[in-house]
Amino acid sequence: MVRGAVVLGASGLVGQRLQQRLANHPMFEVRALAGSARTAGRTPSDLDWGLEGQAPDLNLPPVLDVQDPALIETLHGLGVTWAFSAVPSDVASALELRLIDGGIRVCSNASAHRRRTDVPLIVADLNPHHLRVRPEGEVLHACATNCTLIPLLMPYLALHRAFGVVSYHATSEQARSGAGYGLLRGEVPLTPDIPGEAEKTMAELAWVTGRLAAGRIEPVSIDGRMRCQRVDEADGHIVDVVFELAQPVALSDVNAALDAFAPHPDAVGLPSAPLKPLMRVEGSVRREVHMWADGLGFPTEANPATDLQAGMAVVVGDVQMEGPSRVRLRSLSHNTVRGAAGGVVLLAELASTQWS
Ligand SMILES: NC(=O)c1ccc[n+]([C@@H]2O[C@H](COP(=O)([O-])OP(=O)(O)OC[C@H]3O[C@@H](n4cnc5c(N)ncnc54)[C@H](OP(=O)(O)O)[C@@H]3O)[C@@H](O)[C@H]2O)c1
Repeated sequence: MVRGAVVLGASGLVGQRLQQRLANHPMFEVRALAGSARTAGRTPSDLDWGLEGQAPDLNLPPVLDVQDPALIETLHGLGVTWAFSAVPSDVASALELRLIDGGIRVCSNASAHRRRTDVPLIVADLNPHHLRVRPEGEVLHACATNCTLIPLLMPYLALHRAFGVVSYHATSEQARSGAGYGLLRGEVPLTPDIPGEAEKTMAELAWVTGRLAAGRIEPVSIDGRMRCQRVDEADGHIVDVVFELAQPVALSDVNAALDAFAPHPDAVGLPSAPLKPLMRVEGSVRREVHMWADGLGFPTEANPATDLQAGMAVVVGDVQMEGPSRVRLRSLSHNTVRGAAGGVVLLAELASTQWS
C-alpha cells in the first residue's frame, strides 16, 4: 500500500532531502508540500533547489500555507495520511499537534516534541521498541533525534553492550548544513559555538537508550561531557569521543565489538535501513570518502533519490586505546541524511509496519 504524504518545510534543506528520498519510495508518495506565507502558493518547481542532482518532478499542487485554517481539509482531499515535518521547532510545536488531531500521522525532524513521555524518540534500527509507548491509546506521532546524536550513539551502544561504558567525553565538528540553508549558503555568519546543542544531544542519548517500562520511557543516567562546535564544511558531522569502559580491553576486542554491532531485528529489511548501521575503517574517517556509507561500502557517486541506504551508515575510524579501559575514536554521520531526512523516513517505514 502506498501512503499519501505531505512535506512540511518544503523549501528547506531537510524538506528538500525528504522530497528527494520520497520521490521513488515504495511505501510513500508525496502529494503536497507546505511552508510559511513566504512560499505558500508558489509552484513547487519554482522553489530554489539546493541539493546535488535535479529536483524531483513530483507534479504537485502549489505549496500550502501551514497556517491556512483549511490545511487539514485540503490534505484529506489530496489523500494525505502522513506528514514529514521539517519546520523550525517553534512552528512544529502547534502544527504537528494540529495534524495529529486531524488524523494525520506525523514523523518529525523538529525538536519540539522530543523527550515527551507520550511521543517516542526513535532511531529506527536501534530503539524501535520505543514506538510501543502507548499510555492512553495509540500514538501516531514520533520524532527522529538531533543529527549530532547519531555519530555518538552508534559507537556508544556498540561499546556499552560489549563492555559497559562508564563515561564519555565528546567533541563535535558539525557541518554548516546542520543549521539549514541559511548557513550552508553563507547568508548567515558561521560561529563556532552552537548554544544548547551539547545539552540537547546528551539528554537525547539518555532518552533513546532509556528503558521502556509500563508504557513510559525512563531515561538512563549516563556520565558524559560534550562540546559542540561548527566547522567550515558543507556536510557531515564528526564526533571525537573518549569512552571510559567498565573493564580493561584490548584494541582488537574493541574493533571486534564495533564490527559486530547489529541493527535491531525490527528494522532489518526496511528500504532505508543499512545492513550495518556502523562501519569501522582502519585509519581516519574522511568526509569526502565515507559520508555516503551504505552499510556495505562507501559509494562516492550515490544517487540519494534512489539509493535509500546511501548516507545511512555511521563510520568510525582512528580507533585507539588511550589507557587499559579508555578508547578514543572519531565517528562520522551524514547529518542531513542519517541525521535528518533519511532517519525520519526510516522511522516512518518502521512506523508504517506498526501504526494502523
Ligand atoms: N539541517 C539538519 O541537518 C537538521 C538535522 C536534524 C533536524 N533538523 C531540523 O529540521 C528542521 C528544518 O531544518 P533545515 O535545516 O531544513 O532548515 P532550513 O533550511 O532553514 O529550512 C527551514 C524550513 O522551515 C520553513 N519555515 C520557516 N519558518 C516557517 C513558518 N513560520 N511556518 C512554516 N514554515 C516555516 C521554511 O519554509 P519557508 O521558506 O516557506 O519559510 C523552510 O522550508 C528544523 O526543525 C531543524 O532543527 C535539521
